[in-house]
Amino acid sequence: MKTETELEIFLVCVPGFETVLRAEAIEKGFKKPTCSQGGVTIRGGWSVAWRANLELRGASKVLVRIATFKVQHLSQLDRRAHDVDWQALLQPEGTVRVEASCKKSKIYHQKAAAERIAKAISDTTGAKISDDGELVIKARIFEDHCTISIDTSGTALHKRGSKEALNKAPMRETLAALLLRSCGYQGSEPVVDPMCGSGTFVIEAAEIAAKKKAGRHRHFAFEQLITFDADLWARMKAKDISIKPEPHFYGFDRDPGAIDRSRANAERADVLDDCTFTNQPISALKAPNGPTGLIIINPPYGVRIGEIKKLSNLYQSLGQVLKDEFTGWRVGLVTSADKLAKSTGLAFDDNTLAFSHGGIKVKLYQAQL
Ligand SMILES: C[S@@+](CC[C@H](N)C(=O)[O-])C[C@H]1O[C@@H](n2cnc3c(N)ncnc32)[C@H](O)[C@@H]1O
Repeated sequence: MKTETELEIFLVCVPGFETVLRAEAIEKGFKKPTCSQGGVTIRGGWSVAWRANLELRGASKVLVRIATFKVQHLSQLDRRAHDVDWQALLQPEGTVRVEASCKKSKIYHQKAAAERIAKAISDTTGAKISDDGELVIKARIFEDHCTISIDTSGTALHKRGSKEALNKAPMRETLAALLLRSCGYQGSEPVVDPMCGSGTFVIEAAEIAAKKKAGRHRHFAFEQLITFDADLWARMKAKDISIKPEPHFYGFDRDPGAIDRSRANAERADVLDDCTFTNQPISALKAPNGPTGLIIINPPYGVRIGEIKKLSNLYQSLGQVLKDEFTGWRVGLVTSADKLAKSTGLAFDDNTLAFSHGGIKVKLYQAQL
């Protein structure tokens, strides 16, 4: 390990889920996580940032803060950016991308700000600056205060490295994990998704139950940093606490292609034995034998009035089949309109969780059947 100085590590998540991610961070042994808009801050050395990337299911990115300072002019930014010890971080043969955002600040020109930081990096390390660089340095200038971070994840963390077969409107794995946790799912009960698409909820639930590490199949940007220690990382990855889960996981969809994709994705994630995917419309849905558990579902959304009207029959049938067949189960429904949720006829709790999914405002509705 080349350095273990204490760092501020920011775990980015879908806004609205900060407390849910915090709960996961606490459960996984990260010290004193605190929530702020859009994420959770933890502290620790580089190995803590690696473990966050590897184990946390709800974080979409792990950013390590490397500098923070007051700044009002580009010349000042130039100086302060040159003061950062880039040589302790970046490989001279590496390729780096710099992104800057400016809000409520004297420096308002994002491109100029990014250029100053990029120049400081190439002057001090020789690293190549390119828009295609996998290693991303992020500068946020807000109210004349600049925070520079390294994106240690690289490709966003919902890409677990095992899903290749995508459905039309797939749920991101990170969001699926946060929604499962929001519904009280801890890995010890069966989960059913009656409209499973590419199987995201079902596979994520099975992985959680099997205690598999979220990022076990992928690479991360931090592997390119000077602070990376390949031996320590290999040991961290090899620590296997996975188990054979007790509950079983079920996905259904009326589209046979979706079922094929779900199976292929589950196989790549090594959880196919714990899952059953069946090509079937919701009208044929029956509760699996065994204990009750969680039904989690994001049916097709409607945004315009005409679409909502068209979909209300589908939501009505869904609600009816759940009431008839799933007594004792809990349900978590993600949809875009209160009217659609109402069409199910289910008695949802008053507490809904609002968030944005693919640019559409949606809510998580929960009920006990
Ligand atoms: C928004 S997608 C679900 C996405 C999924 N959560 C994922 O991660 O890929 C909705 C799914 O509902 C399925 N569907 C629509 N009507 C259905 C019905 N009557 N019975 C079963 N599945 C249905 C569609 O085929 C589609 O795959």
